Amino acid sequence: MTVHFIGAGPGAPDLLTLRGRDLIAGSPVCLYAGSLVPEGILAHCPKDARIVNTAPLSLDEIMAEISAAHAAGQDVARLHSGDLSVWSAMGEQLRRLRALGIPFDVTPGVPSFAAAAAALEAELTLPGLCQSVVLTRTSGRATAMPPTENLAAFAATGAVLAIHLSIHILDKVLSDLMPHYGASCPVAVVWRASWPDQRIVRATLGTLEHALAGEMERTALILVGRTLGAEGFDESRLYAGDYDRRYRPVGTDPRFPDSQ
Ligand SMILES: C[S@@+](CC[C@H](N)C(=O)[O-])C[C@H]1O[C@@H](n2cnc3c(N)ncnc32)[C@H](O)[C@@H]1O
Repeated sequence: MTVHFIGAGPGAPDLLTLRGRDLIAGSPVCLYAGSLVPEGILAHCPKDARIVNTAPLSLDEIMAEISAAHAAGQDVARLHSGDLSVWSAMGEQLRRLRALGIPFDVTPGVPSFAAAAAALEAELTLPGLCQSVVLTRTSGRATAMPPTENLAAFAATGAVLAIHLSIHILDKVLSDLMPHYGASCPVAVVWRASWPDQRIVRATLGTLEHALAGEMERTALILVGRTLGAEGFDESRLYAGDYDRRYRPVGTDPRFPDSQ
């Protein structure tokens, strides 16, 4: 018996790995984390699977479900939205499973920042403009931010920020960012990236509040940085014709490296 932690992706049911799909299909128990995991993914469960929404459960109650499956020798598919490496509450479950000696494995998923960037048709890192992306959030009721991890500190680096769980305090986000990026810096808000009702608003830090016109649905990602919508950036050296590299030494034909 194994508990399979599976990143269920950002929303679209087909943004799930093949491994994740097969593990779900082979698990008689499926525990999924609330409304961000779409029904299309639950359709991969076996017909008679026990399917439980864990959103209203406590950690103790979730562990009771897993322990019952363990006692019955049944695999569990444990689904969390996006990828499991950020804001999934997987860490505390793994700690309990280790203590109980219950086996588990972890299958990654498409994170929401990647789905939002795809919706914007954007490469977030562009030569000469920005080479770092910070995945961050602001303090919530359940989770306080460590004091050194604040938006102003990240903004001071000039990196692209992918700000999660923060659309409800947009005015504070904008005022923290403005002194570092300036009012003309591009920003985009993507709601429910990859869902059928996905919405995108592109603006600048100075115009975003007006552009949103009160739109505040919670599942949204704020992306800010100079690479958003940029056209004035350098081409990558990697594909430059005169760039000597292992797979394409200068003077060779990349298709027929032995012919020259
Ligand atoms: C609890 S976190 C989960 C993050 C998830 N583990 C991931 O890999 O992206 C939930 C937050 O992620 C963002 N989010 C999750 N799914 C999203 C989507 N489809 N579109 C936009 N933002 C999303 C929102 O900021 C939301 O408040």
